[in-house]
Amino acid sequence: MKIIVLKDYDTVSKEAAKIVADEIKANPSIVLGLATGSTPVGMYNELARLCSAGEISFADAVSYNLDEYVGIDINHEQSYHRFMDENLFSKVNFKDGSTHVPYTDGANPDADCRAYDEAVAAAGGIGIQILGIGSNGHIAFNEPDDVFIRRTHITSLDEQTIRDNARFFDSEADVPKQAITVGMGVIMGAKKIVIIATGANKADAVYKMVRGEVTPRVPASILQLHQDVVLLLDEAAAHKLA
Ligand code: PGA
Repeated sequence: MKIIVLKDYDTVSKEAAKIVADEIKANPSIVLGLATGSTPVGMYNELARLCSAGEISFADAVSYNLDEYVGIDINHEQSYHRFMDENLFSKVNFKDGSTHVPYTDGANPDADCRAYDEAVAAAGGIGIQILGIGSNGHIAFNEPDDVFIRRTHITSLDEQTIRDNARFFDSEADVPKQAITVGMGVIMGAKKIVIIATGANKADAVYKMVRGEVTPRVPASILQLHQDVVLLLDEAAAHKLA
């Protein structure tokens, strides 16, 4: 794992965008693995700026997102479909139909999960995967568990995740309790992974991911086994590594 510590959120966001932009320039038809959350917003802003400036184009790229709440309307202001539209898709030049966010209406979740894995596999797997990390060590909605789950699946959100995400909803009770999420197969199958963590509330999870044992109790620790991971941290998120 290559660890890069930068001063603050802004410099981390710009560096993450530069890494992604370089990959797009090298391979314009790249398969992007995209993440939601507060962390990648600055990176998406910078990618949108680079696209508007004509430095990169998403016209030949495709994207697959990590996860979505179950039981949320895709037009809900906190749905991850909406998040991606607002923070990236509406600002750059992806072709219609080339962006994908997992979804299940709950009628046949197993089939929806299988279809998502098949679609990622048919696209050739992920070229570059963007990740954040939860304060509990989750990646996508792979929550602390007794086992690593390989396939896309429906999961119950961890209590810590519900508390962390309550800031986006009117109350904790309004946070959806389940999500559809890619498993470790899609993530670990990515050719390259860029994981971003900023802020002191991520320092514990970062320390365990990097220095702890590889365990499904800290899902991000599996990244120790991937051959090409860049971990971008601000000083606050890195402070336990010193
Ligand atoms: P955050 O979420 O960027 O909103 O902190 C990260 C995550 O849960 O992966």
